[in-house]
Amino acid sequence: MTTAPWIEREKAVYMPVFRRTPLMLVRGQGPRVWDDHGREYLDFVEGIACNVLGHCHPALVGAITKQAGTLMHVSSLYYNEPQLELAEKLVANSCMDRVFFQNSGAEAVEGAIKAARRYGMVHLNGAYEVISAWHSFHGRTLVTTAATGKEAMHALYPPMPQGFISVDYNDLEALKQATTDKTCAILLEVVQGEGGVYPADREYLQGVRQWCDDRGILLIFDEVQTGMGRLGTLFGYQTYGVEPDVMSLAKGLAGGFPIGAFLTKEKATAMAPGDHGSTFGGNPLACAAGIAVLDEMLDNDLPANATKVGGYLMERLRTMEAKRPVLREVRGYGCLIAAEFTEDLSGKLVETCIKNGLLVNPVLPNAIRLMPPLNLTMAEADEAISKIHQSLEEIL
Ligand SMILES: Cc1ncc(COP(=O)(O)O)c(C=O)c1O
Repeated sequence: MTTAPWIEREKAVYMPVFRRTPLMLVRGQGPRVWDDHGREYLDFVEGIACNVLGHCHPALVGAITKQAGTLMHVSSLYYNEPQLELAEKLVANSCMDRVFFQNSGAEAVEGAIKAARRYGMVHLNGAYEVISAWHSFHGRTLVTTAATGKEAMHALYPPMPQGFISVDYNDLEALKQATTDKTCAILLEVVQGEGGVYPADREYLQGVRQWCDDRGILLIFDEVQTGMGRLGTLFGYQTYGVEPDVMSLAKGLAGGFPIGAFLTKEKATAMAPGDHGSTFGGNPLACAAGIAVLDEMLDNDLPANATKVGGYLMERLRTMEAKRPVLREVRGYGCLIAAEFTEDLSGKLVETCIKNGLLVNPVLPNAIRLMPPLNLTMAEADEAISKIHQSLEEIL
């Protein structure tokens, strides 16, 4: 595996920024992928929580194929039907009133921040600061890097854009103390995905909502990872019963096809013609893919299946605790799950799982993250659990 020629080819031409697993994936179907040797893997990474319908779902492939042969891209100078239809469906199924489509998660969050800064300019005497949380992840543009609560990321690209402050997650007092007349918004993930699958406390989010209302500032939920059914509700805020004023989406929105979006409530909409735009954002192809995913998700109540099968996965993982004292905690909602261990074994465990035909993500040195497709069956869940069991047996 490690002597493959594509490793050398990548070294020769690609930006050396990834620490990749030496695996060449060539095909996918449902929850499974195959490598260049024809080896099969159950895929619980799914492009990091993107492929909510699994690989090559017929509804998604059909919609993309049809739209690609009809109208792939037109300028935002003109109207296009899939853009309107996807925006209407998102508004009809969320607490939001307006949508703007982008091409990635980072762009979606950056759009949300721009929306908040316009709001600060128009309604809050030019307030511009955004408070986010340590260990958050909001993207890799310079602005979303500044909003991300990881100093190591800031240190790579100085100077960071101004106006971003990080405080401890799940600490309402810290947020209150950091709020000033310059604050226009608070930006949070309802579950910190990249940070290690750490869910927010319900009382914390309720308290933050109240604080934002008291101060007249905006609450932004970055739902790039938690949105589109991942937590067992169409949007993560519904799992908590706490509505944001602005929300970012990407990843699962078009089931693996690149798209992002930020959505605002009417009161948080301060953008006017000319204030923002995108060449590719909202193009017919990406939006047709988004419509197919949303229809499939709603018609089959995939968020409910995510709760059922994800709950089962968590339960089965937790029963390992008795046999495997190395397991410290299983946490998450729906199909965003982490299993944390008392030892830094995730690298070794992920490697062994690959050998046994399962892809999982080493989100922390001592924790693995599972992000299966939302239409996973119980039998496939069982298959994954037995592979994790077997892999633990082998490394302990
Ligand atoms: C919560 C959150 N926000 C933003 C991003 C950035 O998304 P993208 O990689 O599509 O730019 C991610 C990616 O992992 C994410 O998890």
